[in-house]
Amino acid sequence: MTGDDPLEESDSGEPLPDGGEPSASEPRFDGGTAGADDVALDPWGSSTVSDYRKLFEEFGIEEFDEVLDEVPNPHYLMRRGVIFGHRDYRPVARALQNDEPAAVLSGFMPTGDPHIGHKLVFDEIIWHQRQGADAYALIADLEANSARGMSWEEIDGHARDYLLSLLALGFDPDEGTLYRQSTNRQLQDLAFDLGADANFSEFQAIYGFDGETDVSHMQSVVTQMADILYPQLEEPKPTVIPVGPDQDPHVRLARDLAERMRFFKVSRAYASFELEPDERALVAEFYERLDPADFDDDRLRCVHVAESLEETPLSELAVDASTLDTVLTKLNEAGMEPIRPRTRFFDRRATDEAFEALIDAIDGEKRVYENHIDAFEIDPDDAAELAREIEVDHGGYGFRPPSSIYHRFMTGLTGGKMSSSVPASHISLLDDPGDGYDKVKAATTGGRETAEEQREKGGRADECPVYELYAYLLAGDDDEFAKRVYDECVGGERLCGDCKEQAAQLMREFLAEHQEKREEVADLLEEADIELESPRRG
Ligand code: TRP
Ligand code: SF4
Repeated sequence: MTGDDPLEESDSGEPLPDGGEPSASEPRFDGGTAGADDVALDPWGSSTVSDYRKLFEEFGIEEFDEVLDEVPNPHYLMRRGVIFGHRDYRPVARALQNDEPAAVLSGFMPTGDPHIGHKLVFDEIIWHQRQGADAYALIADLEANSARGMSWEEIDGHARDYLLSLLALGFDPDEGTLYRQSTNRQLQDLAFDLGADANFSEFQAIYGFDGETDVSHMQSVVTQMADILYPQLEEPKPTVIPVGPDQDPHVRLARDLAERMRFFKVSRAYASFELEPDERALVAEFYERLDPADFDDDRLRCVHVAESLEETPLSELAVDASTLDTVLTKLNEAGMEPIRPRTRFFDRRATDEAFEALIDAIDGEKRVYENHIDAFEIDPDDAAELAREIEVDHGGYGFRPPSSIYHRFMTGLTGGKMSSSVPASHISLLDDPGDGYDKVKAATTGGRETAEEQREKGGRADECPVYELYAYLLAGDDDEFAKRVYDECVGGERLCGDCKEQAAQLMREFLAEHQEKREEVADLLEEADIELESPRRG
């Protein structure tokens, strides 16, 4: 399983969804297109993401715009829609807002030079650090070795380059944490623990692993799971993982494992028996709908809900026939048991002491069963907090499910995707500033055949890799500037020659400045708490 560096993948700059014209006031990159190729999210593959909408529909990634209002001082990558999606980012946004503990972590496979695609992730980590989050950046050297066959010597060289760029862009190594996977013992212990809750069939389903897959490659997956949960080792806290969407399978698995490691599962129940989520929603609906006063002794009982369900046509219920069947069976078996909403603490893997401690800690009316406790007077949010507290006090991790944010891949300068195997398609942070200038000058654009046509119809900024450079990097925090470039382009006032000249000069300046800063932070890196040379051979 090898492929191009996933961070270098790009969408191919297709038109906006609905075929609509972008509004000139809002330069965005909502480049999805109906009927495009299937999206495959493969961390080691080379598929491009040609339709971002499918990521929302098929994988349940949510639109970043929906949380943007809750983010304090949003980064320009957030404001411009480059960060387009998220999973469960709200708890992180809230923690930043309220100065509560939060963390950010991302990892880099040292397989080549750091480039402008990695800069997005560096910036995301640094921004979160400046908003008060504990920041972690790691070198995924085990993954580079096992999944990409990089030698330790190559890895050391690239790792240093990544770290220098990260520090040059503003990461504070005194406040933040840097590590490499291979020398972090605590990380490996956590990976081992998590591995006990994952199995091969699952890896097969998620990653397409088969009988030929190296065991070390599998180990690098549990290591990444441990990376993602590492910031919570001392204390559970909202944590965001900024990555490209190709890493989403890892995020989903980590969220799942975080949940599996929990001592208790806290859920809502309506009677003594367990309900599946869609069954529960159905019972909840009927609980709301039915009035106890309509029944004997003013009590709503399981049989009443069952009768009422049987009288309702299936087409009016949000479940299929077999789900309805199982709910009816459960309700009828419980018969005259009253329906009473409650919070259920299900014992998943708690120690006996933790279970006892939880019983003691629950206030108000409660019922204790062999594997669960039902509490009748506790607010569901408080219940989750209580369960976590008891778990942490009794030696559990108490992990919160990690959150993620996703950025768009940059389009290659030569059109198509940005790929490390095509030097002209991308700009390395180590490129000679003059070469950077030349690459921008040689880039494809969204311009028209002739200057007249461009003046008449305007350029296609949304399909232009040069415009992307402005929006993702060259305009920096200056939204006005990015907007001006966009408006002038689509309005036909801007012609590609001058536009590229300006971008090329800005790129040259950026690279020169960045490389100067890299030299300035060299000492900082020597002092930082990370091993720069691997003791490993081969
Ligand atoms: N798998 C990531 C990549 O291919 C690198 C990585 C390792 C990572 N551990 C991580 C990314 C934890 C985010 C979080 O680039
Ligand atoms: Fe791209 Fe600039 Fe040409 Fe517009 S004017 S298409 S942004 S190069």
